[in-house]
Amino acid sequence: MSIFGFIRQSVANFRNVGAVAGSSRFLVERMLRPVDFSGPLNIVELGPGSGNFTRSILKKMNKNSSLTAYEINDAFFQHLEHQIHDERLALKHDSAAAILNDFPPGSVDVVVSSIPLAMMNAAMKKEILDACVRALKPNGLYLQYQYSKSDLKLIRSYFPNLKTTFALLNLPPAIIYAGRKQQQ
Ligand SMILES: C[S@@+](CC[C@H](N)C(=O)[O-])C[C@H]1O[C@@H](n2cnc3c(N)ncnc32)[C@H](O)[C@@H]1O
Repeated sequence: MSIFGFIRQSVANFRNVGAVAGSSRFLVERMLRPVDFSGPLNIVELGPGSGNFTRSILKKMNKNSSLTAYEINDAFFQHLEHQIHDERLALKHDSAAAILNDFPPGSVDVVVSSIPLAMMNAAMKKEILDACVRALKPNGLYLQYQYSKSDLKLIRSYFPNLKTTFALLNLPPAIIYAGRKQQQ
């Protein structure tokens, strides 16, 4: 999708899209850095948009891995369906909260989230974060970026070992969170 297509979706649905442009290659690379792609992984992506993370994850993951991506926006979903053909990818035209029903507890290795938490109400954030923690394996990895630290405390309450880093070469610059589910 062109930059103009992304901006059109952003203008029409700013509360859901929450960004003016797709993530830069720099942000994508930096956020995915903690993932060890060498083994088979069950990966979930929340809010793929025009697919910048999706393509990179598919390139990095091996043939025994799977990627399930949840996108609520009609135009982005159709774009992904038409543009990305990979049998390891399952596209869901559904909210991130649906992972609660789609994955058994403790079955996911990595969650890569771009959803705009800052635009969501407290109940929805809780629903999605609860579902992510439940779906992740012990020591499973939760990755999220934001444009402000508005949800740092909240995310740290789910992942006390949370690490933060920055991606300055992005419009706008982003904060990246990486947390591991605590071992029981
Ligand atoms: C900031 S854009 C990120 C797009 C892309 N991943 C990137 O980084 O370039 C946020 C995306 O999350 C999607 N989204 C927002 N709320 C969602 C939800 N509850 N479930 C799934 N996707 C959601 C939006 O439609 C949009 O595509």
